[in-house]
Amino acid sequence: MNVQARKRQHSEHDQLLGLEPVAVEPCISRDYFELECERIFRRVWLNVGHATQLTGENSYFVHEIPNIGASVIVTRDSHGEIRAFHNVCVHRGNRLVRTQRGRRLRFVCGYHGWTYDQAGRLLKVPDEDQFPCLNKAELGLKPVAVDCWNGFVFINLHPEPAQTLPESLDGLYNALDGFPFEHSQLASRSVARVKANWKVCMDIGSEGYHVAYVHRSSAPDSHISKDNPQGHLPSVRLFGAHRSTAFRANPTHNPTPAEGFVMRHAATVLQGTEEPETPAGLNLHKTENWGFDTHILFPNFGLLMGPGWFVTHRYWPVAVDETIWETSLHSLPPRTIGERLSLEFSAVFTRDLIREDWAQVQNVQKGLATGALTHTQLSDQEVMVRHAYKVIDDHVRTP
Ligand code: FES
Ligand SMILES: [Fe+2]
Repeated sequence: MNVQARKRQHSEHDQLLGLEPVAVEPCISRDYFELECERIFRRVWLNVGHATQLTGENSYFVHEIPNIGASVIVTRDSHGEIRAFHNVCVHRGNRLVRTQRGRRLRFVCGYHGWTYDQAGRLLKVPDEDQFPCLNKAELGLKPVAVDCWNGFVFINLHPEPAQTLPESLDGLYNALDGFPFEHSQLASRSVARVKANWKVCMDIGSEGYHVAYVHRSSAPDSHISKDNPQGHLPSVRLFGAHRSTAFRANPTHNPTPAEGFVMRHAATVLQGTEEPETPAGLNLHKTENWGFDTHILFPNFGLLMGPGWFVTHRYWPVAVDETIWETSLHSLPPRTIGERLSLEFSAVFTRDLIREDWAQVQNVQKGLATGALTHTQLSDQEVMVRHAYKVIDDHVRTP
């Protein structure tokens, strides 16, 4: 059908994004991948977790950024302040912390025992007299820029970030105000090393077009329906480098027996909400039969939000054709056995869906790697995919 002949959705983004096919090269070229590492991952704000992972004084977690070989310690000191440091001992460069998370008053290097506190200060140097020029007060763990948004911990590995975190979050900064992120807790987490480019991984969560096919067994009618058989997105908003949409729920969804049972007790990731007023921070698109919101934050962070829960996806490039894909489901603490069961159902359902996505994106990468295609074709429903490639390319082309 001719582009002008039918009523189009999301055409308000044509001027910015165009309608041309999108090049495959960014997903298979090693040179492009190197530029992404240098011009994106070493320069911009990256989400590495949520403050609820720092439970209590002197807690910490370590996060690796594999494509640039960085390892960062994020700490919460005894005053509650969150800090970030390169996970590198300043004596001779040893990887300082080798556990992933915990609570510790001191970090002691396993090589020669140099000791640091949660504020990164160098406290102790064994055999200190043997260092004729050492100024302990001036040495300490190398700081990394860190800031929080709704409890999400972001770091920036550039010594002088070009933007603050609020500047970089653009119009999204206040858009989710009121959602109870800080009262939520981790319900389940899965991590996979997927043989696909990080953008190919991110693409699948940016459209509803694949749901009727990839999730035809696991989610045959929860987000697609007779009225919306192809999972059309109700609206798409662009917030600078970030993008946002919603997925509809199906009011005539036919639940499985397990689903039907838990839905009687509490909301799941499959339902929207029947409350007259949608809770704060949700349904940004004012969608009828709303299911959940999806925000994709540049460069590699997906945030799905529903009533009382949120799911995060982080896509960490390892190589041009390999990604560490972390998915976490967070929810308000269950208050009843029914809510507990409902949460377990959501955790299992999320895991099943994500496994199907893992398998799918690996097949896409195989196809792209053949070199048979120079470009891919994107529909109006894949406008968020188009936006991602444009924003990434803009950064890659900025020296
Ligand atoms: S490298 Fe850490 S104490 Fe020597
Ligand atoms: Fe999917």
